Amino acid sequence: MAGITYEDFIDLSFEPSDADLVCTFRIDPADGMGVESAASRVASESSNGTWAALPTGEGFTDMRAMAFEIGEIDDDSGTGATTDAAEIKVAYPEGLFEPGSMPQILSCIAGNIMGMKAVDTIRLVDCEWPEGLATSFSGPQFGSSVRREIFGVDDRPILATVPKPKVGLSTERHAEVGYEAWTGGVDLLKDDENLTDQEFNPFHDRLVESLAERDRAEDETGEPKSYLINVTAGTNEMLERVDQVAAEGCEYVMVDVVTTGWAAVQTVRERCEELGLAIHAHRAMHAAFDRLPEHGVSMRVLAQVARLVGVDQLHTGTAGLGKLANEDTVGINAWLRDDLHGLDDVLPVASGGLHPGLVPDLLDATGTNVCVQAGGGIHGHPDGTHEGAKALRAAVDAYAEDRSLESKAEESPALRAAIDEWGTETPR
Ligand code: 3PG
Repeated sequence: MAGITYEDFIDLSFEPSDADLVCTFRIDPADGMGVESAASRVASESSNGTWAALPTGEGFTDMRAMAFEIGEIDDDSGTGATTDAAEIKVAYPEGLFEPGSMPQILSCIAGNIMGMKAVDTIRLVDCEWPEGLATSFSGPQFGSSVRREIFGVDDRPILATVPKPKVGLSTERHAEVGYEAWTGGVDLLKDDENLTDQEFNPFHDRLVESLAERDRAEDETGEPKSYLINVTAGTNEMLERVDQVAAEGCEYVMVDVVTTGWAAVQTVRERCEELGLAIHAHRAMHAAFDRLPEHGVSMRVLAQVARLVGVDQLHTGTAGLGKLANEDTVGINAWLRDDLHGLDDVLPVASGGLHPGLVPDLLDATGTNVCVQAGGGIHGHPDGTHEGAKALRAAVDAYAEDRSLESKAEESPALRAAIDEWGTETPR
């Protein structure tokens, strides 16, 4: 090849190989820019091209990506009319990528192209991960087997709760809330995304005191209980916290995976394998990437990345039933469970505005191989945390027993009170 220009990055007769990473983008070309011109610029800037024609020749390996498919997008009017936007597919050659480096991959497929003037908006919608690239990552260590391996549960979702107010509780109060929730029937106490190591509730004190309450709750209930403590910090500090969690006898760590960054999650994953700890992934800040349907990176792709780098549990929303917007929970959960070249699955966590009255519709949508997480829906119960936990457990047990909430509420005053308080409303 004498030189490469944008035109060299589009070929609608191109057929990707099994080793290629294929990405689907939604693009809205800028004024005066045709769809094909915009698509070729996306492939170029995300692989090895730029705005100017480039010399090639000796010492150059051809690592071009290729835009190979352009599909129209309906304007939703029902008339069959289409928009100026298009769905395009781009194939990336295996050799473009550093195996096992998520930052390098994302710098290609979700890097400079997100800000190109050639498009008004661009969204990375989906990826088809080839075996070579996918298996260069460790993937989850446990995945959904945590339900059985840690809690001995397979007929119902596992239940988690995050103390509310999310920050500000003292260590002692936080641990007490954990005890109340665990003894009420919840399996997991969970930190919230912005609770790490603050003066009002230091990390190590919270770890030790919460696990002491965990042990007491296990003795009283005869059920395994665990704690999702938030180790989020700079990478070195995070590894120290992971070590402390293992030393104190907990089974999990929690990481804010988006704000922490994928490379740090990969490092934590390695340490967690040495220590036998599972990783609970909170997705705080995901909506900065995925909320606008025409721009950014979809939650589906973020979930794919999370699975590859090896988290065991991931927040994927509530199928529109809770307080968060724009959720493709069912599709994402299906992807997290599907075969991915032999990598383990990920346990989806439904969270954000859930309460007992929403449980039947939620589990109809998601199935029971999930974790159900409720904060306000437990601690806002009219009779407090313990009763709130009992109500959520009763709602989930009712589903496993194939009974209605109304019938279960006849024997569970806690569930009765929750239904009377919130009914089946979707909070905002
Ligand atoms: C989460 O961590 O997902 C939220 O803090 C859930 O809180 P909520 O159940 O009160 O909406």
